[in-house]
Amino acid sequence: MKSILLEDCIERWINVKKDKKNPFRFFTLSTIALNGSPNSRTVVLRNFNKDNFVFTIYSDYRSQKITELNSDCRAQLLFYDGKRSIQIVVSVKCISIIKNENTFKSIPHYSKKDYSSKLAPGDIITSPDAIDYEKKLNYFTELELEATAIDYLQLKRNNHLRIKYISSDGWSGVFLNP
Ligand SMILES: Cc1cc2nc3c(=O)[nH]c(=O)nc-3n(C[C@H](O)[C@H](O)[C@H](O)COP(=O)(O)O)c2cc1C
Repeated sequence: MKSILLEDCIERWINVKKDKKNPFRFFTLSTIALNGSPNSRTVVLRNFNKDNFVFTIYSDYRSQKITELNSDCRAQLLFYDGKRSIQIVVSVKCISIIKNENTFKSIPHYSKKDYSSKLAPGDIITSPDAIDYEKKLNYFTELELEATAIDYLQLKRNNHLRIKYISSDGWSGVFLNP
């Protein structure tokens, strides 16, 4: 049962690329600020590699999350499937932050501007329309986050189900009291 449920998560993470309605397409990424406080935000899952449990996301190089991951590589990913009442918390370490021009070329034209604003994410602007874009520059960045542990919880009758999987234990999994 433990391995079947982990396989189910893996399949859903892989399918995100094909299935835009997959509940795991958007998830919460929490990082640790320089002063030690938590910072959370929604991001899109771009790829999952089942061989090394690496999650890929895209971002603007100037965003806070990158400053924070450069200073402390530990982070958490929170996935939630409301239809099945499943919560998955993945502890990760950031293993790569790279400006990948080839990937940038491959993304749709309309998405390219998300990584090309003249001002950095979080800078103050005078109105929502006052956004200028670079014509030749971009700040596109690919981040790779490697899982170290997975905490799976499903709320259901008669008993809720909670399983902890740890990379160093070969992802075999142990049941936890939910
Ligand atoms: C639906 C949704 C999807 C988002 N996807 C991404 C994403 O894939 N990458 C990203 O950097 N920001 C994404 N954002 C914006 C972030 O939530 C966040 O506001 C932004 O990256 C700045 O975060 P930071 O300054 O804490 O790093 C998304 C926001 C929403 C509402």
